[in-house]
Amino acid sequence: MTGSGLMVAVIGAGPAGMYASKQLAADGHEVVLFNKDIKPGGLAEYGIYLNKYKMKEGLRKQFRSILADPLVHYYGNCRIGKDGDLTLDDLRTLGFAAVLVTTGAQSAKPLGIPGENLPGVYHAKDVVYHYNLLPPFGRMTMKVGRKVAVVGAGNVMMDIAHWLIDEKRVDEVVAVVRRGPAEVKFDKKELESIAANLDMDELKQEISHATPLMRSLGQDPDAAFALYKDAVAKAEPHSASIRFSMRFLSSPRECLADASGNFCGLVVEENTLAPADGGPRAIGTGLLNTLDADTLILAIGDRVDDHLGLPLNGNQYGIHPKPAYPVDGISYEAYDPTTNRAVEGIFMAGWARLASTGLVGVARKDATNATAAIGQYLASRIGAAHPSTSTILTNLQQRLAHRVDTADIQKLEAYEQDQAAVRGLEAFKLDTNDQMLAVIRADKGG
Ligand SMILES: Cc1cc2nc3c(=O)[nH]c(=O)nc-3n(C[C@H](O)[C@H](O)[C@H](O)COP(=O)(O)OP(=O)(O)OC[C@H]3O[C@@H](n4cnc5c(N)ncnc54)[C@H](O)[C@@H]3O)c2cc1C
Ligand SMILES: NC(=O)c1ccc[n+]([C@@H]2O[C@H](COP(=O)([O-])OP(=O)(O)OC[C@H]3O[C@@H](n4cnc5c(N)ncnc54)[C@H](OP(=O)(O)O)[C@@H]3O)[C@@H](O)[C@H]2O)c1
Repeated sequence: MTGSGLMVAVIGAGPAGMYASKQLAADGHEVVLFNKDIKPGGLAEYGIYLNKYKMKEGLRKQFRSILADPLVHYYGNCRIGKDGDLTLDDLRTLGFAAVLVTTGAQSAKPLGIPGENLPGVYHAKDVVYHYNLLPPFGRMTMKVGRKVAVVGAGNVMMDIAHWLIDEKRVDEVVAVVRRGPAEVKFDKKELESIAANLDMDELKQEISHATPLMRSLGQDPDAAFALYKDAVAKAEPHSASIRFSMRFLSSPRECLADASGNFCGLVVEENTLAPADGGPRAIGTGLLNTLDADTLILAIGDRVDDHLGLPLNGNQYGIHPKPAYPVDGISYEAYDPTTNRAVEGIFMAGWARLASTGLVGVARKDATNATAAIGQYLASRIGAAHPSTSTILTNLQQRLAHRVDTADIQKLEAYEQDQAAVRGLEAFKLDTNDQMLAVIRADKGG
């Protein structure tokens, strides 16, 4: 295929950015793939649970082949945004024909309750970045106590519980869930990873407490319990002394501090449920209880990064409600809700478009759709003047001398694989940018 002669900027080399780059290159465009981390992969590298070696390596293999495409230029160690190496306006001035934002959901979603910034309260994303060794989180000091409360009932809560049980070997983990047993969002498979530690007696009590409410909503408490019973039958073995329990129908209202100012307990309000579109809604009853714990982890999803420079709409970037280039009826176009205007030439995909939503496969589909939207946009602008792709690359190389490229990543991966072999480990990762850059620059004379 003849190249289009156009250069598209993709910001963020997680799954969405990777698969978008692959499709844009297949469509004949050149791509500069910016990534704030040195290594590509986003949450596929730094989020997916530690023991999923096969899945992670499978994704890495696909990403290596995407980065090897001569039309894809990897610019790792380069942050785009208001306080970044380049701003969105810089990308326009440099002459990119379109920009695709695939930066994921990088900021913490607040609970909005007193005390949530106390020492001992953590956001799940920081914790998963910590145990997956993303710089600088890999070296973050995390004070994990013996009893840990985790807010949320999604797969991230399960991953965190898995880590607390397997790696931190705490005494007790309690999941604090604002709705009922029928509204949990985690997968059965993920439940199996901690099911050996489930306190089944307590679970029975929780479900029987919720039974009248569940029945009034047409829900089946036995089916809810069966999920756990089946998981226990297939449970991965664990130390039985660590207890995992679920506290349903409970919304966090306040984080309590001890005399030293550290988190020591969570005030929760008991909820009832009311029917609503999209599933029952939690409504507080006014009844408050205190749950003693020494650490609190919020696994309630994330929000996008407001430093990027795109207009926000709540926890997300503004999405054009009446897209000019819809794909499958979905809008991928950035939008300013305060001026009601499109942000010309900027598209979004993956968790940057819908924060904390879906698996890698969902991000892939979303990214591929977004490239179709970009294709329509570029077709509508045939004849628009753009600098040559080589001019854009020359300018970028001058401005971003600290960037790492695909060859650098290959060198880093080869080093880490050697280290894993030498140490007899399944995988080995450097956990600071300085260490990674030292490996990359060795023999380069700088
Ligand atoms: C704890 C956890 C475990 C998960 N486990 C699984 C699993 O087992 N299986 C599964 O299928 N899915 C899993 N997922 C979901 C999966 O990780 C996501 O669907 C997917 O990673 C979303 O891809 P993304 O590219 O939109 O965002 P991300 O993966 O977050 O990638 C965003 C990228 O953008 C970069 N970036 C951010 N800001 C900037 C900036 N300003 N400038 C330049 N670059 C920037 C980041 O460094 C990152 O590389 C998990 C998610 C979490 C949180
Ligand atoms: N192993 C895996 O495959 C894996 C691992 C991790 C993540 N993922 C995927 O990544 C995506 C994100 O996962 P996630 O667990 O972060 O999100 P999620 O599935 O949406 O779960 C978030 C949980 O937090 C609760 N919550 C949200 N806001 C709250 C608040 N203000 N107060 C109390 N509770 C609140 C939600 O309750 P409500 O239901 O009441 O809103 C829900 O239980 C999902 O698609 C998930 O499947 C997959």
